[in-house]
Amino acid sequence: MTQHEIAVIAGDGIGPEVVAEGWKVMEAAADVFGFRLRKDVYPFGSEHYLATKEIFPDAAFEEVRQHEAIYLGAIGDPRLPVGMIEFGIIAKMRFELDLYINLRPIKLYHERLCPLKDKTVEDVDMIIVRENTEGAYTGIFGFAHKGTALEVASQSMVYTRQGVERAVRYAFDLARKRPRKTLTLIDKANAVRAHDLWTRVFAEVGEQYPDVSREHAYIDAACMWMVKNPEWFDVAVTPNLLGDIITDLGAMIQGGMGIAASGNLHPGSVSLFEPIHGSAPKHAGKNVASPVAAILAGGMMLDYLGEKQAAASIEQSVADLLRDGRLRGVGTGEHPTNEVGDLVAAELRAMAAKV
Ligand code: IPM
Ligand code: MG
Repeated sequence: MTQHEIAVIAGDGIGPEVVAEGWKVMEAAADVFGFRLRKDVYPFGSEHYLATKEIFPDAAFEEVRQHEAIYLGAIGDPRLPVGMIEFGIIAKMRFELDLYINLRPIKLYHERLCPLKDKTVEDVDMIIVRENTEGAYTGIFGFAHKGTALEVASQSMVYTRQGVERAVRYAFDLARKRPRKTLTLIDKANAVRAHDLWTRVFAEVGEQYPDVSREHAYIDAACMWMVKNPEWFDVAVTPNLLGDIITDLGAMIQGGMGIAASGNLHPGSVSLFEPIHGSAPKHAGKNVASPVAAILAGGMMLDYLGEKQAAASIEQSVADLLRDGRLRGVGTGEHPTNEVGDLVAAELRAMAAKV
């Protein structure tokens, strides 16, 4: 029997609660579809840092990267300096494991979850391919004359031909596999002239995908269209920072942060799966957070590991429960956190028993 080796970093705030539910569902899927999951749990996050002054030691990092995949809850704590723990853990893995694709599906499972008027499940079904190792996140920044009236602050957005091309190519390959075969480039080339590299690479690579229709939108307009006409989007590819921003908007139109999942991928190598929400400290420990995003991130992980049926059945179970209202919603307090995993696991088993 295949056994998959997973590193689990539950992290901060609601992270441990949602990860427990995601794991529960993945284990049910493993049981039903005949494979095993083994986890090594790592304690890193803000509590661990506050207790030990350790963020993510090299030895542990080397261990984590030996796994097939990493399953992460959430990282972040208002008691720590802005960005310190996020960059020490999430960004460290994205950069050092070269997880160059951040895959963020935006799919509406039931109309009542959508805040947009008159939009149906057919209208909201897209995938954002966020470039994940370059742009504004490369950490090239500085201050001069700090704290004085002459202060200068600067941060570079860095794009490489290779980095842009691999993200764009991944997105074309993905678009090709979907019925609508449409890829939109979202950038800000009219103001950030460095994005001209994206424009050119998109056109050049696109020549090799004559079956994929190419569209383009500037990020500001893309935000508008995603609210007004989300049905226009199928697959979209975009630089790191723009992808960060637009996927929060995307999360809202599919039902909120409680449902939005993501995969940080280096195709063919160890990859990281996480809900896109943060640690939500005010909801931590109350058993009220929605674990659906973490559950769907677990589904994405199983898909990545080649457990296609298991992955599909997790998504199908969530969709069925939302459609018939047994899962009322994906917001805070709609269901006790620890009941949602049970509900999804039971649905998955029931579905499997029928076939
Ligand atoms: C995300 C988050 C991170 C990001 C933060 C925590 C650094 O917002 O995964 O979308 O900006 O990428
Ligand atoms: Mg974000």
